[in-house]
Amino acid sequence: MLLAASTQRTIGFVILAVVFIGYVVYLILNARASRDEVGSEIELAANRRPYLEDEELEGSKLDKSLLAGLAMLAVIGVGLPLYWLGEPGRHEGLIANTDRIFADRGGELYTEGSDCQQCHGAEGTGGSAPVTLTDAEGNFVATVAWAAPALNTVLSRYSEDEVRHVLNYGRNNVMPAWGAPGGGPLTPQQIEYLIHYMRRIQIPESELRETVDGGVRDGIAEHLGTDDDAAVDEWLNAVDAAVEEARAMALAADDSLSGDDAAIRYAGLELLASGEAPGSELYQTYGEILFNNPAAGGTYSCARCHTYGWSFDATTDGDDGIDGHAGPILESYSVAGGFFGPNLTGGSTLDQFETARLHSDFISAGQSIGATYGRGGAGGNGQMPGFGPRTDDDVGVIYPATLTEDQIDAIVAFERNL
Ligand code: HEC
Ligand code: HEC
Repeated sequence: MLLAASTQRTIGFVILAVVFIGYVVYLILNARASRDEVGSEIELAANRRPYLEDEELEGSKLDKSLLAGLAMLAVIGVGLPLYWLGEPGRHEGLIANTDRIFADRGGELYTEGSDCQQCHGAEGTGGSAPVTLTDAEGNFVATVAWAAPALNTVLSRYSEDEVRHVLNYGRNNVMPAWGAPGGGPLTPQQIEYLIHYMRRIQIPESELRETVDGGVRDGIAEHLGTDDDAAVDEWLNAVDAAVEEARAMALAADDSLSGDDAAIRYAGLELLASGEAPGSELYQTYGEILFNNPAAGGTYSCARCHTYGWSFDATTDGDDGIDGHAGPILESYSVAGGFFGPNLTGGSTLDQFETARLHSDFISAGQSIGATYGRGGAGGNGQMPGFGPRTDDDVGVIYPATLTEDQIDAIVAFERNL
């Protein structure tokens, strides 16, 4: 039988036998080594203390041991479930802690490691980058201050994947490529740190609204040629009234719209865009002011991507913001004539978007990576921002809208007349 067994079993039996024989030998040796006690225990040896009495051992001593055991049992019985109850909290704490560490590291890269701060300002409030312009032959034209957008609202405009794309590849040779895919110095992990940092610095909706509306008010004041707040308020009220009137007109023309707020909104917009509503011109001017919103270096404008030269003030008649160059840099410029984003003039948006509603929806949602849009919009890299609210399911956050529905509609009315 031993022979038939496997090698492991054989070895096992051998070990068992050795242990067994060893044990027997130990017992025999131990028994032989033991001696009877010398003398009797009737009298205690001089070097021994009397032990406890039986009454005590079986009474209070035993009770104390049992009580101690009970206490230990209670500690385990209560402590373990309590520890278990705290487990989800510990898990969340770990995630929050990881987020915090990532954002801290991103913050270090932002301020020191990669100098984002130099161009985008402390905590991403926006700034500018020195850019040297050259002509087609490569000759020096001018050094300009190119507006660098605020990043403390960037997650309202772009998904994190879209932000990652800009970080990896840069943009227009003025925003450097940082990620390895674009030949930049940062690892994918460091790009993640920066994105976590951006999550941290996003400003609350009220602050975003204040910034955007502040720029709009500046634009209106410039348009009116006055610094008078009351005049700006009055102008904005007139815009609201124009919208109300257009909606009333739309409803009067088609009472099947009744009760459907969205349908009334877009029917009114169609009238304001086509010029049929009395307040159309005013509304389109409002759209133009929004298109050129100067707030935070033009972060919330459309012109920074759709009008070449707007980001370095070359679209003004003077030499504002231009270093070492006398007179306007560009001999001419074309409003919405296209730059990073396509040319929007010549009725191109009418071709792209059959209705004002589709046009408005596009500006609200922006273009997502790889997705097509309109009639012939190709799937790009998602660089046309969304100006409506953005829900980020991964992070579980709703980022506030950059522009209100009314503001988006006004830009649509303006663009459909370019
Ligand atoms: C040398 C200046 C400079 C540095 C340094 C720089 N950027 Fe930029 N960045 C720009 C400019 C300018 C733009 C706008 C490009 C344009 O107008 O085409 C931009 C655009 C961006 C955008 C797109 C935002 C939008 O709304 O369009 C993001 C995101 C961004 N930068 C993040 C960063 C981060 C993060 C860093 C640091 C790793 C960084 N940038 C470093 C100049 C810079
Ligand atoms: C950061 C740059 C950027 C900004 C800011 C921007 N756009 Fe764009 N826009 C683009 C790009 C790029 C495209 C082309 C779509 C693509 O490939 O992602 C585009 C496409 C469009 C189109 C479609 C044009 C066509 O014919 O296909 C419209 C309309 C448009 N933008 C309107 C706006 C409006 C309105 C705003 C301001 C509220 C705005 N854009 C702000 C970059 C920008």
